[in-house]
Amino acid sequence: MDSRRRGESVRTELHAVAATAAPYWAGEAEIVRTFLAKPHTLEEHLVWLRAQAYKESAPLLALTPPARERLLATGSFEQAGVSPSETDRLADEWKHFRLIAELVEELTGTPLDPTALAPLPEDQKLQEIRAVGRARHGLLGTACAAFTEGGGGAMYAVLAELDGSRFETRVATIFRVICADEVRHGPMQIHAIAAAARDPSDWETAHTLVSAISRQRLRMRNEMFGHVLGPARLAEIDAGRIVPWPLPVAP
Ligand SMILES: [Fe+2]
Ligand SMILES: [Fe+2]
Repeated sequence: MDSRRRGESVRTELHAVAATAAPYWAGEAEIVRTFLAKPHTLEEHLVWLRAQAYKESAPLLALTPPARERLLATGSFEQAGVSPSETDRLADEWKHFRLIAELVEELTGTPLDPTALAPLPEDQKLQEIRAVGRARHGLLGTACAAFTEGGGGAMYAVLAELDGSRFETRVATIFRVICADEVRHGPMQIHAIAAAARDPSDWETAHTLVSAISRQRLRMRNEMFGHVLGPARLAEIDAGRIVPWPLPVAP
C-alpha cells in the first residue's frame, strides 16, 4: 500500500475508533448534567470529589513505596526517581490531586490523605479491564487505555462550565485546569493507537478495547454521581442512542 492510501486507511480507522468512544463520552456528560440538575448535600458532593481525587492520585500510588514517600516529602518527581518521559504526566496528575484535595479540605476542614483513598467498585473494574488490555496487547493495549483516559474530558468540560455559588465557581476553576491537561493525556493519544496498530486484526482489537473501557467508564461515572442514570438509559447509551461527544482538541 502506498503512503497516501495507507494514510487514508489509517484516518478511516481512527475516525471509527473515535466514533466508538464518542457516545459513551456524551453519556459521561449526561451523568454529570443530570446530577447537577438537582441540589445535593455536601456528603453527596464529597462522594464524587473523593472518587475523582483517588483517580488523580492513582499514578502516584503506582510508585514504589520509597518513591512515593520521597515525592510526598519533597513534592519533586525527580527526587522520587520518576523517568523524565513520565514526569510531565505524573506532575499533572499530582497537580489535579492537589487542586481537588484543597477543595475537599476547605469543605470538610480535614486534609485529604492520598494514601487513605480507595477506588469505588466500578472504578476498580475499569482499572482491571485496562490492566488486562495492556498485558494482552502491549503497546496497542497501552495506547487504547491512554486514549480513553478522562473519557474525552466530558465530565471535566461540564464541571468547567459551572457558574453560580462559590462552590460551583471553585469547582469550575479546578476542572478548567484538569480539562486542558487531560486532552493531551487522553484524546491526543489516538495517534498512539495509529502507531501501534499494524493490521486489520489490530484495529479490531483497538475497537474492542476502546468500546469495553468506555462502556465501563460510563458505569464508573454513574457510580461516582449516585447512579443518576438507570439501567434502561445506560443500555440506550450502550446502543448509541445519544448525540456523540465531539473529539476535543487541545486549547
Ligand atoms: Fe488527571
Ligand atoms: Fe490524566
